[in-house]
Amino acid sequence: MSRKFEGDRLLIATHNKGKLEEMAHLLKPFGVSVVGAAEMDLPEPEETEDTFVGNAKIKAHAAAKATGLPALSDDSGITIDGLDGAPGVYTADWAETGNGRDFMMAMTRAHNELEAKNAPHPRTAQFRCTLVLAWPDGHDEVFEGVAPGHLIWPIRGEAGFGYDPMFIPDGHDVTFAEMDRWEKNKISHRANAVAKFIKGCFGE
Ligand code: IMP
Repeated sequence: MSRKFEGDRLLIATHNKGKLEEMAHLLKPFGVSVVGAAEMDLPEPEETEDTFVGNAKIKAHAAAKATGLPALSDDSGITIDGLDGAPGVYTADWAETGNGRDFMMAMTRAHNELEAKNAPHPRTAQFRCTLVLAWPDGHDEVFEGVAPGHLIWPIRGEAGFGYDPMFIPDGHDVTFAEMDRWEKNKISHRANAVAKFIKGCFGE
């Protein structure tokens, strides 16, 4: 059984305003107020592990230790079966240009590598999100969400971000970038992980 969250303040170990607002909204019914890492002036630790859970643990434990508050972090990305799970924890790195992130470049790389290997269709892939809640005493709880689907080319859709325009989730025939935000947020890997976190740390 997961350790329950019993305080009234939760640190969200992210500098991303969108993630912070989303968590604040989801946790409102539980009487929890959220604080962001930027508000607390926390540095962004280096993500040196080669798994989502490893990197999420680094961020959550560093934040809990520095503030004395329970801290929640997330790490996410996409794993492509035909590329043996790449880009995985390097999902954001594939978009790095030295002058900001270019996801068209990252998606083109994924497609080209699949073509070069003559990977069979459907080209299955999974968006993954790992959440870690760490307490200042060193205890932690891990929650993992997955959105399975397959990749298409050419890309379709304008909404969303990252690799959304090339990803069709199972049970649908449109990409994440062709769905409206609320529809995607109901079935996404992040929604899935957050539901497990709420059940584990706030449920009966
Ligand atoms: P981070 O965990 O915020 O560093 O995100 C890792 C990378 O995964 C980012 O570069 C995102 O583009 C990608 N990613 C994570 N979630 C999604 C998603 O829902 N759609 C598209 N790309 C995503």
